[in-house]
Amino acid sequence: MKFAVPAGDEFHPLYIAGNAQLSYQHSAIGLYVAHLEPFFVKSLRRVIDRIRDEKLREDADRFCRQEAQHYQQHSDFNKVVLAHGYPGLQERVDQLKRDFDGYLSGRSDRFRIGYIEGFESFTTQLGLNLLGSGLYDHKRTNPAFGTLFKWHMLEEVEHRNVAFDVYQHLYGDYLHRVRMCWFAQRHMFRFFSDCEKIMCAADIPRHGDRCRVRLKHRLVSRAVTTGMRVRSMMPWYTPHAYRIPASLEALSAHFTQSARHVR
Ligand SMILES: [Fe+2]
Ligand SMILES: [Fe+2]
Repeated sequence: MKFAVPAGDEFHPLYIAGNAQLSYQHSAIGLYVAHLEPFFVKSLRRVIDRIRDEKLREDADRFCRQEAQHYQQHSDFNKVVLAHGYPGLQERVDQLKRDFDGYLSGRSDRFRIGYIEGFESFTTQLGLNLLGSGLYDHKRTNPAFGTLFKWHMLEEVEHRNVAFDVYQHLYGDYLHRVRMCWFAQRHMFRFFSDCEKIMCAADIPRHGDRCRVRLKHRLVSRAVTTGMRVRSMMPWYTPHAYRIPASLEALSAHFTQSARHVR
């Protein structure tokens, strides 16, 4: 994909529907996946030869290639966000990178595949919610950021079954899966919360009070995400049960058409 990256002087931090809570969450997602997704690819590559189902092994390989595209695309947008000047933000991102480096060197395959599944079981729901909300086509959403996130969320929905199936195939331990959903999602939300505080603190003096995250928005977000987290941990949870709206197929065809072909 070739996305138009906004120039630094065009950047305004409230680029999702002009809403502080949603915009900072998206900036945090972009910064998070830039280190999460390389960790995913390295972790899955370490176990891919142990997948005995040929179709699942192929799906895992495609999953790695999609995630590798995601973090590369986000890194250009992240540079624009970071260049806006947020004291302490780069340091928090560096700490996140150290966490993932530590998981790669000091934890087991079971931990890492559990982490991936814990994240993906949340992101599938997030992707379906965000794409269904029309937020990325909102008149106050920056089209460049809107298109990037629309593409990423669509691909998260597309590959929703892979991490779950790999985890079930290799381990299938329900209680470990719940622990890793809890761990991975908490790790992610702590990062999001720290990013929001850092960005708000810098933006309110220069862009005004609308950069303050309203309590009402924070409470709504907490309620929605808690519901998704609980759902991901239920014994009957499976990504295979989702009904995917027909509109997402049209969107997928649109992105396929605009993709560049490489050899
Ligand atoms: Fe991704
Ligand atoms: Fe994913």
